[in-house]
This record gives sequence, C-alpha cells and structure tokens, in this order.
Amino acid sequence: MVNRLLFRLGTACSLSLSLATAQAQPAPAAAPAAQATPAAAPQFLTAVTSVRALNEGLEARSGEALLRVTALRDDVLRVRISPSATLPEDASWAVLPESRTRRTQVTALPDTAQAAGFQTAALEVRLEKNPLRLVILDRQGQVLSADALNRPTQFVGGGFQVTKEMPLDEHYFGLGDKPGPLDRRDMAFTMWNTDAYRHQESTDPLYKSIPFFMAVRAGRSHGILLDNTWRSNFNFGKQWHDAYSFGSDGGPLDYYVLYGPSPKKVLEAYAFLTGPSPLPPLWALGFQQSRFSYEPESQVREIASRLRSDRIPSDTIFLDIDFQVQKRPFTIDKAKFPDFAGMLKDLHQQNFHIVTVTDLHVPALPNAGYAPYDTGIAGNHFIHNPDGSIFTGPVWPGPSAFPDFTRAPTRAWWGALHKDFVKLGVDGFWNDMNEPSVFETPLKTMPRESVHRIEEPGFAPRSATHAELHNVLGTQNARATYDGLLKLKPDERPFVLTRATYAGGQRYAITWTGDNSATWNHLRLSTPMLLNLGLSGFAFAGVDSGGFSGSPSPELLTRWTQVAAFNPLHRNHSEKYMAPHEVWANGPGPLAVRRAAIETRYRLMPYLYTLAEETSRTGIPMMRPLFLEFPDAAADKHPLDLWAGNQFLLGRSLMVVPPPYADALDAYRPTLPQVEWFDFWTGKKVVKEKENATDPDTKPLVAPKITPTLEVLPVFVRAGSILPLQPLVQSTNEKPQGPLELRVYPGPDCQGSLYVDDGRTFAYKKGAFLRQEFTCEASDGNVRVKLAPPTGKYAPWWKSFEVVVYDWASEGATATLASGGKLAARYDAPSRTVRITVPATAQGAELRLTKAAP
Ligand code: GLC
Repeated sequence: MVNRLLFRLGTACSLSLSLATAQAQPAPAAAPAAQATPAAAPQFLTAVTSVRALNEGLEARSGEALLRVTALRDDVLRVRISPSATLPEDASWAVLPESRTRRTQVTALPDTAQAAGFQTAALEVRLEKNPLRLVILDRQGQVLSADALNRPTQFVGGGFQVTKEMPLDEHYFGLGDKPGPLDRRDMAFTMWNTDAYRHQESTDPLYKSIPFFMAVRAGRSHGILLDNTWRSNFNFGKQWHDAYSFGSDGGPLDYYVLYGPSPKKVLEAYAFLTGPSPLPPLWALGFQQSRFSYEPESQVREIASRLRSDRIPSDTIFLDIDFQVQKRPFTIDKAKFPDFAGMLKDLHQQNFHIVTVTDLHVPALPNAGYAPYDTGIAGNHFIHNPDGSIFTGPVWPGPSAFPDFTRAPTRAWWGALHKDFVKLGVDGFWNDMNEPSVFETPLKTMPRESVHRIEEPGFAPRSATHAELHNVLGTQNARATYDGLLKLKPDERPFVLTRATYAGGQRYAITWTGDNSATWNHLRLSTPMLLNLGLSGFAFAGVDSGGFSGSPSPELLTRWTQVAAFNPLHRNHSEKYMAPHEVWANGPGPLAVRRAAIETRYRLMPYLYTLAEETSRTGIPMMRPLFLEFPDAAADKHPLDLWAGNQFLLGRSLMVVPPPYADALDAYRPTLPQVEWFDFWTGKKVVKEKENATDPDTKPLVAPKITPTLEVLPVFVRAGSILPLQPLVQSTNEKPQGPLELRVYPGPDCQGSLYVDDGRTFAYKKGAFLRQEFTCEASDGNVRVKLAPPTGKYAPWWKSFEVVVYDWASEGATATLASGGKLAARYDAPSRTVRITVPATAQGAELRLTKAAP
C-alpha cells in the first residue's frame, strides 16, 4: 500500500522522465509558431491607435497589436487579440466550427475621439480609446463586463493577461469541478490537467480544464469562455480586491462573452458554442457498482448475484485495471477471467451492463505480440520526444507510450482497437488517467517539450508541444473512443467515461470527479463540484459515492448513497485495500436505508431521463444551483446558493437539502425560494413560519428547521410541479409493470413533462420518442390537470396514468374527463391525496377534479 502511494505521488523523482526512448520514429517537423513569438518585455495595450468598423463588429489597432470583436449572435461576442498585426489560426478544440463561423450584422456606433463601438439587438460594445478599455453593456445601458481601469491587457513571455473589473456584488461559477465553495470569488485557479489522487478542498489544479465561467450580478448574468488550451489561470480577486483576471502561458488570446441575462440563457449560449452532451443510454442513469478492482471472475459474478439477491436496483458493473494482463489496455487476464465472454453473457442475462477501464497509455512492449503497441508503432501513433524518439513514461502497466490523439488517424486507430471488446459485448469504456498521468515524475505528466502532431480537419497540419496540447489530450482520447464506438456500433449510443477533459469534452463523454476520499468533507464537496461541472457544460457527472480513498463509516456511506441517488450519475467506487463500500456493507439496517434511496432513484427514472433529454438539447444541467431556477429570488438578486448550505435542485422541481455539514447533528433551516414547497416523502405542504416566533415584525416567513436523521434525506417538491414516476424495477432493462404515476403538486405555473424512447439507439432522432407535456390549474379547491396529446411515434410501456393530486383539502372528490365520462377518485385522508387512473391516449386528456358534493 505504502509502496503504491509513493509510486503514485512521484517521490521517486530521481528516475529519468522518459524511461525508454527505444524506437526512433520519423521526427515530426519543427513546429511553426502557433502563437506570437514571446516578447522580451511586456507589451501593454494602453491606447487604441485606429479603428475599423466591420459588418459583424469592429477591428482596432493598439500600436503593433490587433483587436477584433465580432458578434456571432446578438448575445454572443468573440474577442480576439494578437500582439502583432495578424490573428493566429482560427481553429478550436472546444468551439464548434459552425458556431465559430456564425456572424450577425451589427450597427456601428459613432467613432469619436473617446470611443468606438457597435450594437446588436442584445448588447452594446464600447471600445474606449485612451486608456484602451473594452466595455460590454446590455441595451439598457448596464455595464456587464469592463476591462479594469489602469490594468491593461498585456502580452508577456509568449503569454497574456486580461483584467476585468470585479464589482463587489458579482459572483462567479463554473471552471469545471475545481473543489472549494460554489462561488469562485476570492479564489484563484490554474488549468493544467492533473492526476490529483486524494485531493483536498484547496487542491488545484485537478483533472479537468474547462476555462469557462459565469458571472452573476444582481440578476444579470454573462459567461466568458477563454478558448486557450495552454496552462491558463483565473484569479477572482486574490490579487486585487476590485479586479479579476485570466491569462495563459501561451497560445491565442481568444475569448467569448455570452450574454444572459438569465443564467439559463448563458448556459444555452455555451451549448451553442461548444455543443451539448449527447443523450446517454438510459442505463447510464441507473446505479453503477465499481471497485478497484473486482477480480477474479467469480467475484464479479458474486457482486452481480448479491446486487440482485439483495434487491438493489442496479444497471452497471465496472471492471477496473486488474482484469487485464498486467494492467495492459485491451487485454484480458485469462487466469483470473477464464470465461470472460461467458461472464458477460451471464451478466447481461441478469440485466447488467459491463464497463471496462481502458486507459490511454500503451505499454512499450516491442516484439511481445502486444498489438496495441505494435500497431501503434507501425502507424506512428505515439507522442514523441523532441529528438524524434517515442516518449515513454511509467504508468500502471510500466513504461508506456501515449497516443497522439490530436491526429485524426490516431483517433481512428484507437477507436478500432475496441473492436474485439465490443464484439465480446462490453457495453461501455472508461478512459482514465488521461491527463495524461505519468508516475515517478514530479511533473505527474509528460514534459512540456514532448512533441504532438495536429492532423485535424479545420487545423493546419503541424507539430505542437505538450505545453499546448496537454489540456486537450483527455478530451481527444474520449473523442477517439466515442467515435470508434459509433463506428463499430452505429446505432448504439456510446458510453464513455473520462476523467480528464477540456471545454467541449461533454460532446464525447460523461465524467466523474476523480479520486475523492471517504470523508464527510468530501461528501459535502461533491455538491458544489457537480454543480459547477453542470455550469461548465458537463451535466452528466458523478462522484465516487462512498469516497474512493479510505473506508467510510456506516453513517457516511448511508448519507452518501442518499445524496448520490439525486446526482446525475450514481456510481459507487472505491480503492484497493479499503473496506468494502458496497451498499450491503455494515449489515441489513444500513442496507435497507441505502436500498430505499436507490429505489427512489429508479422510481424517479422517467423524471431523470426527461431531464437528461432536456440537457442534451439545451445544455441546461440536470443538477442545478438554486440561482439557475430562481435568479431573482433574493431582494438584491444575489445568488441564493451563497447562503443555502449545500442544497441543490434536480431539474426544475426537486430540491435536495442535505445538512450543510453532513455529519453535524444541528438542526438547520433550508432555503425555500419564493414558491411553496411540498415534502417529497410525506407529500405534505411545508408550512413556513416566523424565524423568531415572538418577533412581531413582518419578516418574510422561513422554512421550519430540520433536525437531521440518517434515515431521511430531506427532499422538497416545488409547488406547481407534475412529476412522473414509474413502478419499481431492478434495472432499466426491465419493463415497468403498471401505470405511470403523475404526481401533481398544485401551485403557480404548474407543469411537468415526460420524454421516453428506447433508451439505447438513435431511433429517437427519426421520431421514435414520446414527449408529453402536463399542466395543472387550481382554483377554489378544484384542480384541472391537462395531459397534452403526446408527440412522437414511440409506443411507451404504460397504458394508463395514475394521477395523484396532493394537498387535496376536502374529504372527497369527483373526477371527470373534459371529453366526457366520470372516473373513480380515491381519496386518502392521511396524505391528503386523490388518486385517479386515467387511460393514456393519443388525444391526451383533461381531468377535472372537483370537491365532492357535500
Ligand atoms: C485512478 C482512478 C480510479 C481507478 C484507479 C485504477 O486512480 O481515478 O478511479 O480505480 O485509477 O484504475
């Protein structure tokens, strides 16, 4: 164990960085400069020397430097600044070409001695000339973003820094899953993908680089994406109290400003730029069981049987590195897994999906019959040292080479390596260690001088240093896997899990937050990390539930299982040598509570899948901070989340309210924005109260305090919601038996929706889906529920709806259909609910529920 730790933490620094430089390969041509030659002295952009209006924006000079601001859409601007007279190549790993090349016609503002600028329907851009300052306003004249006064944009040593004003009441979100508080204010971050085993609350950098953040101020939001793959940095007030900055060690100064004003609009604009996540297979939303490592085959089979015999709904089992021959990707250790194909068949029969880890490193094993290395060498698919030899560094399987994923041919080669595994029936692939992680070096990765090649549609072919491409390697690794799977099984939605990524990587993979620890603090951290990932385009994300490193106490594992059941992805994963983390650890008592949490997730599957589909269209994440749904709830419109502990929303309707400090027993008050709320478990309306019962003044009422218990994770439903639930199943493969339940919680703007398809293929793109919208209205104690006619041509599993109306005040109810006919209404006094079975028809239905005649 200790050895392993030392190994991973890179204490053996004296070892050489590239252990094997064996096979000489054709040396890539020297890289032409992708960015300006480093200036000897800092170059400051202090004043505008000339301005030229463009149809879609403006171009200005500041001495040698060139600045171009263009409008891609009325609400999306692109700012490109070069220290010299030409802009660098217009190519991107993050921003879609079709978005990058969009243009909108702008209206130029008068070019005066003080300023020039233009307007779109949504924004005004003002370029102040002396000192040079880019100011962006909304059309009401409110400043959204402004270069900081007297802190000019500067180019230095091949890199740059941009500094913007930081108003006192502006808050910042995003930047992926950097740990720490949800709000990035008063924090500074580095983007450099790093294997951060046992990271802590203040560890930075971590595995991902998503240089996108959202600024929220008094109900107005905008986003900034710095499209730069080099080691970059974001500093929100650590250096100056009134300014934030972003910059990079190299590469282009190229950023986008995305206007809201609502935070949802910013996220939609981000999805326009970088693409939303594709709809994952339904089974990805089921419960996933993992461990480093389940081995041998008999143990995998035992885990599967136990999940089924303990009736723990579950969909996926992961095979970590030890199923392979000496941890070599694309191999199977036959001694440990004598009948891999038979095992897969049996597990499939039990409705499990199998995901295998497939790390990107390829052990350097010449003349050993190891095809990935041999074909990789033959095709010249590996990253080189500057002297033309292949870079190798030690990872799990020993000295390894690293595929040059920024080459399209290398990605195609990598994708094809999955052929046999796909044929065997492996359902998904887990791309780990792809920062890339390299052991036994203080760098934790390969040297910056290592030589990659770019051979990619939309880019001029060239070689490039690792310093430029480090942060995109994980994304391109996942892309290679995703595209490869699509090629091998064109009509199946690929399941790819990646650890490292860059902006836009959501197009190829789902993700998790890496090697967390089995501590209460890590459970607490999981919420802001997932929320910020969702605000950075990565909606389909989870954490190692129970904590990867360390052994959770029974209480921690229980609470974590409950919270993760409401996360977008729910995977229980743990490290070697740690005590068992499976939900049955600690005996039948805790198991019952944990099972109930997972069962709730499965009952909510129609709601979860509907949210997933929304995400795949709009980029709005499944797991949401309060401010995303209630941006204007506070009197001063600050983001409610700043004071709301660790609450989060799952979609529009569910609010999960874990104790702010999960292990503390103190009673706490949830923040319940604006509307009324129902207790999800009891169905009772929450009755707000005065904060201090004896206080006569008229403060807004607050939610009653919650005294935490381990059995119940507080969850609330927003009044004005219609939630779809299904009968319990043990896996998403199973067809639910019975009606689809529609829980109606009357309130303002009452709505709900439902989306289903086959959960597996792309047939939905050709209309094989069902989408149905629901609304409700309540007046005088009567309720009307409208089930709009469904659209799409997918035949769902249900034949009828079980409509459950909450908060029904009178003793009985009469239910009629607007189309004619009376339906039986079953009133339940203790829960104050009425239940009505409504047939599911192509016409939809309008249900009228009136108080029973006295
Ligand atoms: C890394 C991963 C972890 C995995 C282990 C072995 O530490 O983050 O999830 O179990 O490698 O593959």
